[in-house]
Amino acid sequence: MGEIRSNGEYNREKELKAFDETKTGVKGVVDSGLKTVPRMFIRPEDELSKEHEIPCVNLQVPVISLQGIESNKDVRDKIVKQVLYASEKWGFFQVVDHGIPFEVLEKMLQGIRLFHEQDGDAKKMLYCRDIVKSVMFDSNYDLYKSRAANWRDTLAIMKPYNGFLDPYEIPEVCRDVITDYIDEVLKLSDILLELLSMALGLKPSYLKEEMGCNKGWVLSNHYYPPCPAPELTLGTSKHSDPSFLTILLQDRVGGLQVLHDNQWVNVQPNPNAFVVNVGDILQIISNDKFKSVYHRVTTNLVGPRISSALFLKGVESTEKLYGPIKELVSEDNPPVYKEFNLLDFYTYFVSRPLNVPGLDHFKAENHAVVN
Ligand code: OGA
Ligand code: NI
Repeated sequence: MGEIRSNGEYNREKELKAFDETKTGVKGVVDSGLKTVPRMFIRPEDELSKEHEIPCVNLQVPVISLQGIESNKDVRDKIVKQVLYASEKWGFFQVVDHGIPFEVLEKMLQGIRLFHEQDGDAKKMLYCRDIVKSVMFDSNYDLYKSRAANWRDTLAIMKPYNGFLDPYEIPEVCRDVITDYIDEVLKLSDILLELLSMALGLKPSYLKEEMGCNKGWVLSNHYYPPCPAPELTLGTSKHSDPSFLTILLQDRVGGLQVLHDNQWVNVQPNPNAFVVNVGDILQIISNDKFKSVYHRVTTNLVGPRISSALFLKGVESTEKLYGPIKELVSEDNPPVYKEFNLLDFYTYFVSRPLNVPGLDHFKAENHAVVN
């Protein structure tokens, strides 16, 4: 793993350890006054030299308005069609007219900023690696596995499928705004799961009740500090999400890109919109009808950039099995994936770096990838 040399040359392992031990993340590096990007964050040469092979184009991910969703069946049917199109063709869409007050969104972003910009000591107490706690601060959960570290820090808040989240565990600087935000965004997740169920031709309650998609979740509150050399590193490496669905709030800075038809498409910041994307598990249970697509976050000279991602994680237990939904498979459309439980799914996810694809691991035998 990494470059380990003891003859005075670059020692990656040592640099990672030193960074980890500061417990203040990338923000701590920037605050220390460093004006260059430390080597551990620099993308490998082979990756950088291929960067130009994927162009960045001026397209827009689908934007879906929820206006009138409750009052009118025709409107709802139209929205379901839009969700179907976006989930099949893009794996990403933006939701507007969702009814959540703008103030809740603004305060949420401000609260996350306050958390990350407070004194280092307060964050150090929450800094965590390996042990999973319901509230933790970390930077690069895959620090010792990835080839290059990402330019971001995260405050993660977790609600297990079979338990409660104690609000008092959330740091006081952002406790109230985060609890208000969670209430609202979970209501939105109910609506989205109904729309997605209908888009799959299932009864509206299917993804919520039968699959328990939003029973367990993680809210990852990211902080991307300004970066002195944005072309050398990434805020978040190219990846797909280990979730059923991800609902993301981003500020006005920009940097999120989605891979569409082998081109990077910028997800234009819209302070009133949520960015919604299909995760790997929804791709699996929809038997590849919906697409969990690659996305990444570039860094900026200016900043910080702040975002909050709610990952709907389902029921993480050995008892509940997930695989392609029976109603969605047939003789002509056999299951592409095998059945598995989500404990195994997430264990596999954390065993590899973020940018290594994970879906193939769960393919059914007759769909195994031939190398
Ligand atoms: C993620 C992610 C995007 C962003 O957390 O999985 O893709 O804009 N985040 O922070
Ligand atoms: Ni993601």
